[in-house]
Formats: sequence, structure tokens, C-alpha cells
Amino acid sequence: MMQTLTGPCFVISLTVFVVGMLVRAVWYVRGLDWRLERVAYAYHKDRSIPGALVSIGKWLVPGGTQGWRTQPVAAIAFFLLHFGAVLIPLFLLGHTVLLEHHLGISLPALPQGLADLLCIASITGLILIGVRRFTSPVLQQLNTRQDWFVLVLTFLPFFTGFMARLDIGAYDTWMLLHVLTGELFLVLAPFTKLAHIVLFFMSRAQLGMDFAIKRGGDSRGGAYPW
Ligand code: HEM
Ligand code: HEM
Repeated sequence: MMQTLTGPCFVISLTVFVVGMLVRAVWYVRGLDWRLERVAYAYHKDRSIPGALVSIGKWLVPGGTQGWRTQPVAAIAFFLLHFGAVLIPLFLLGHTVLLEHHLGISLPALPQGLADLLCIASITGLILIGVRRFTSPVLQQLNTRQDWFVLVLTFLPFFTGFMARLDIGAYDTWMLLHVLTGELFLVLAPFTKLAHIVLFFMSRAQLGMDFAIKRGGDSRGGAYPW
């Protein structure tokens, strides 16, 4: 069973993840208004490209935007989660071995101690984000079932991976649960809010280009008259 899960099932779930994310990105671009958006961004490249890069860059830095600064506790929780969420799936030794075996891609591996720290930080971040969703009066109004589902879907591979890593009993069971929940995560990510792994970059780039060309851009001798 483990061989099937780490063999064909792994390849299938990774393919669904990659193709699904690419489709979401293409849909995003096709959803833009061709005249007001696609043509404007392509025509004013001198403004659109720097605008996109600044907007993405600022959101990737803790405290880089007003949005992060006005909610420092939430920002800490999100960054605690994301350092591990981005680095562990790609650079954990157990994962790089699989990627090399199936795809021939050889990535550097994180030192085990650092991987453990990142994993603990991610689990802490997820719990804090959950507590915030539960306690904040504003979020209590906005929470949907999908919000909770996405938190649990992300929590499971982290928790089961860490339990396997601790190796305090039932290693095979934790590992089986880890691979199952990891593959579930990969297959469902493109169909949920987790598509933000790609769409974050698309929407930040779009807003950055918009502000550089149209809105704030106007005060700098704007390309458009409005
Ligand atoms: C470079 C890639 C990524 C970027 C730039 C990114 C960015 C973000 C941003 C901006 C938020 C929303 C913060 C807010 O609501 O104000 C968020 C939320 C979240 N992200 Fe990511 N993310 C990335 C990758 C990932 C990955 C790989 C995972 C999972 C392994 C993940 C899991 C989550 C979760 C669970 C939430 C919280 C959703 C909630 O509010 O309940 N992200 N991310
Ligand atoms: C898709 C199939 C996956 C496979 C076959 C797999 C395989 C592995 C292996 C072999 C380990 C090492 C366990 C040990 O130390 O003995 C591991 C650990 C781990 N994996 Fe995965 N994994 C998968 C998906 C994921 C995903 C999607 C995530 C997160 C979004 C994830 C997060 C983790 C974490 C947090 C650990 C423990 C890190 C630590 O060493 O502290 N895995 N995984």
C-alpha cells in the first residue's frame, strides 16, 4: 500500500496540484478586462512591471504593508505558518528524495533541526490562526465552512508528518496517515482557497500594476487621465 501511495498516487496528486494551479492562473488572466487591464498592463510595461514587483515584495516582508502593520499579532501567526508551509514541502529531506526519485529534480535539503523548528512554528501559526477565527467578532461573522476545512486540510500533513518524525510509536501508521493527508492536500489545493499559493502572486501583481498605471500613477504624471 505504501509503495502505491508513494509511487503512482504521489505522481497523480502532484500532477493534479501543478496542472490545477496552472489552470487557476490562466483563468485569472482570462478573467481580466482586455481593454482596461490586459492591454493597459502590456502597453505601460515601464510602470506595470515595477508596480507588480513592489506590491508582491512588500506583502512578502513581515510589516512591509499597512495591512500587516495594523494587525501585528495576526501577521506573526501568518508568517509563523508560512515559513514552514513554503519551505518544508519543497526542501524537507524526506520530500527531496521523493522529488528526485520521481521527477529527477534535485533540491537542497533543510537541516533536520531547522525543519523541526519550522514545523513547530507552522503548527503554532495554524493554531493561532484558528483561535483568531474563533474569537474575533469580525471573523465570527465571516467564517465559512471552507475556512475551517482549509485550516484542517493544512494542519493534518503538518501534524502527522511531525508525529512520524518524532517516532514515539506507531511510526508506520503516522507515516501512512501523513502520505494520505499530504496527497489529499495536493489534490484539493487548486479547488480551494489554497489556490492562493499561485493566485496571491497574480492578484498582488494586478493590483500593483493598476496602482502604478491608473490610480496612484496619475499623481506621478499618470498614463491614464483618470
Ligand atoms: C509563497 C506562497 C504563499 C504566499 C505568498 C501566501 C500568502 C498568504 C496570505 C497573504 C494569506 C492571507 C492572510 C490574510 O488573510 O490576511 C495566506 C493565508 C493562508 N495560507 Fe498562504 N501563502 C503561500 C503559500 C501557502 C502554502 C504553501 C500553504 C500551505 C501549506 C498556505 C496556507 C495558508 C493558510 C492555511 C492560510 C490561512 C487561511 C485562513 O485565514 O484561515 N499558504 N497565505
Ligand atoms: C504528498 C506526499 C508526501 C509524502 C510521500 C511525504 C513524505 C514525508 C516523509 C518521508 C517525511 C519524513 C518523516 C520522518 O522523518 O521519518 C515527511 C515529513 C514531513 N512532511 Fe511530508 N510528505 C508528503 C506531503 C507533505 C505535505 C503536502 C506537507 C505539508 C503541506 C508535508 C509536511 C511534512 C512535515 C511538516 C513533516 C515533518 C517535518 C519534520 O521533520 O519536523 N508533507 N513527509
